[in-house]
Amino acid sequence: MSTETIDRPVTAENTCYHIKESNQGTSLDIKDFNLWYGNAQALFDINMSIQKGMVTALIGPSGCGKSTLLRSINRMNDLIDDLRIDGQIKVGDYGIYGPGVDVIALRKRMGMVFQKPNPFAMSIYENVIYPLRVDGISKKSILDETAERSLRAAALWDEVKDRLDESALGMSGGQQQRLCIARGIASDPEVLLMDEPCSALDPIATAKIEDLIHQLREQYTIVIVTHNMQQAARVSDNVGFMYLGKLIEYGETGVIFVNPKLQQTSDYITGRFG
Ligand SMILES: Nc1ncnc2c1ncn2[C@@H]1O[C@H](COP(=O)(O)OP(=O)(O)O)[C@@H](O)[C@H]1O
Ligand SMILES: [Mg+2]
Repeated sequence: MSTETIDRPVTAENTCYHIKESNQGTSLDIKDFNLWYGNAQALFDINMSIQKGMVTALIGPSGCGKSTLLRSINRMNDLIDDLRIDGQIKVGDYGIYGPGVDVIALRKRMGMVFQKPNPFAMSIYENVIYPLRVDGISKKSILDETAERSLRAAALWDEVKDRLDESALGMSGGQQQRLCIARGIASDPEVLLMDEPCSALDPIATAKIEDLIHQLREQYTIVIVTHNMQQAARVSDNVGFMYLGKLIEYGETGVIFVNPKLQQTSDYITGRFG
């Protein structure tokens, strides 16, 4: 399989790099990042500048390290035994693997949404404001404002405003996922991390989440893992194609899907492997 670039230089080691840059600059800067589960290396020399106010999609075959990379960004991997990393990830100027990092404070700067909607067994209202409760905020006006603002931002307010006290478990799957997005943005993070957020949803619910991603991108830096190539093409500004733990090509979405620089990327997106 050829890994030669067609007409653009490789600007980051090991990666064919041709991203669209944001006029707001870089939000997350991943530098020489490696990760091992025990003796098995899962990420190799990842170098990636994730642009502020844009949507970045991670694609690649199952097991190539997309979720591992996403979980490295908010240090969720810390919970795994026998994990080792080297390299650095910065959010703004803050090195998230530096000494003395407050991991709880860090996670507040990053909302996370998972594959399967995971609402808590409590009311719609309590689900949304959960991050504030954890912070010990109890002033009703603040909680009410946050609930409304987050539900509006998650395009759910009109559907649930008259039943905020009902259990979240009675909602449809698509509503539950939008609720999880509302909860993810309630503490006003800078970054929203989404790991295959539509894979458990039907096409209509999926379309609503994609619309929502479009609306949220103005305000948040979004990183989305998806195995759905059409979805990556529809929602993202830049795409990182990963394979066997490496970032192979990282570039502007239109270029990646129409005229990728590497044969390997082209083979994957046209369904020749994966
Ligand atoms: N908790 C874990 N412990 C050990 N190995 C893991 C763990 N999570 C993922 N892996 C391994 O790391 C590699 C990348 O997995 P993952 O990040 O889940 O890939 P993707 O999200 O692209 O499907 C795979 O080989 C997987 O088996
Ligand atoms: Mg995954």
